[in-house]
Amino acid sequence: MSETLQATSINFEFTENQKMIAETVRNFTARELPFNVVMKYDEEQHFPIELVRKVGELGLLGIIFPEEYGGAGFGYLEYVTAIEELSKVDPSLGLTVAAHNSLGTNHLFQFASEELKRKFIPKLASGEMLAAWALTEPNSGSDAAGMLTTAVQDGDHWVLNGSKNFITNSHSGDICVVMAITDREKGNHGISAFLVEKGTPGFSPSKKENKLGMRASETGQLVFDNCRIPYNHLLGNLNEGFKQAMMILDGGRISIAALSLGIAEGALEASVKYAKERKQFGKPISDFQAIQFKLADMATEIEAAKMLTFRAAALKDEGKTTTMESSMAKLYASEVAVRVCNEAVQIFGGYGFIKEFPAEKFYRDVKLCTIGEGTSEIQRLVIARQLMKK
Ligand code: CAA
Repeated sequence: MSETLQATSINFEFTENQKMIAETVRNFTARELPFNVVMKYDEEQHFPIELVRKVGELGLLGIIFPEEYGGAGFGYLEYVTAIEELSKVDPSLGLTVAAHNSLGTNHLFQFASEELKRKFIPKLASGEMLAAWALTEPNSGSDAAGMLTTAVQDGDHWVLNGSKNFITNSHSGDICVVMAITDREKGNHGISAFLVEKGTPGFSPSKKENKLGMRASETGQLVFDNCRIPYNHLLGNLNEGFKQAMMILDGGRISIAALSLGIAEGALEASVKYAKERKQFGKPISDFQAIQFKLADMATEIEAAKMLTFRAAALKDEGKTTTMESSMAKLYASEVAVRVCNEAVQIFGGYGFIKEFPAEKFYRDVKLCTIGEGTSEIQRLVIARQLMKK
């Protein structure tokens, strides 16, 4: 038995807070996100910023931050519950909230000076401001340390040059945490993290991506052209930005596991409903073992993914390092979710291929989960490296 498992008491019951959050999110999605609205945003690739602000009013944009910074003061168990419930209905909104909370805002919360935290986190927690987080570049994805963006000190300022790619909340983000090279000779020990505010001269969002799925989340490129930011916008210590980014991804990957879980659960729920309604050969297709076995496998794998996801969240709430557990949860939940959505389309048959039915959209959205915040291959690499360390 692993050390971490011994240290974690197993409780399969949702806490009162989790139940309350799940119910709040369900009421919200039922009211604000009927299927036709979700599909309209998807079709038009519309990023519903007004809806994101309403999510802020519910307290979900500051869910993991202490009340003294305007947050809701909950932990990862509650956070995962919220992302899962949002993603059952609108995975794009789940992704937006995840990138804002556990990447952008959490990087500030963990590493910014007290002054910057007091200035920005209450606004980010309330939804008045939205956060983005920029690590990836056009030529550095999995090899995150291979970035080219630089930050050079000039008196009491830093000057940033370069570009970032595939950034969630790229255009609507009011602040962005940016990783940049501060000492090229030192490789990943020569990267630092900075806070850049929207509207800073030399900082501009450029191309918005036209995507296969997650179309109602905003993904775009950011350009830094002699962008001058105050010296105190350096987050934490100089040259520790890569390590900071890895630590932030340890938390972020749990949220992508939750996003995957929500999508898989949404697809399973729709599949069960459809199988009971759809009649062929004189009876509902749910009467056929071929369909029953698919549903049974989908439900079983979802339960296993749920255990990994909530366990990683519980460990995080206990203050443990969750590098391996976060990657395991992200890897397994995202791969399960892809399989579940594939089977959902199969169960829906021809109707699974058209946009009036929910399986088609889940099938497109889910693929992001095996790629974003580190591909499945990178998760395996992280898990294997952790195993070798033991
Ligand atoms: N916690 C603390 N420290 C860590 C760490 C962690 N989880 N992971 C690595 N480190 C430390 C290592 O201990 C090492 O420190 P020392 O040199 O002092 O020993 C240092 O960081 C470098 O680590 P590695 O040698 O493992 O670095 P690497 O270059 O081999 O890369 C990697 C490791 C795991 C492949 C990493 O590059 C990685 O995670 N790549 C994928 C990046 C990714 O997930 N990108 C998606 C970002 S999402 C985005 O940008 C868009 C958006 O809007 C959401």
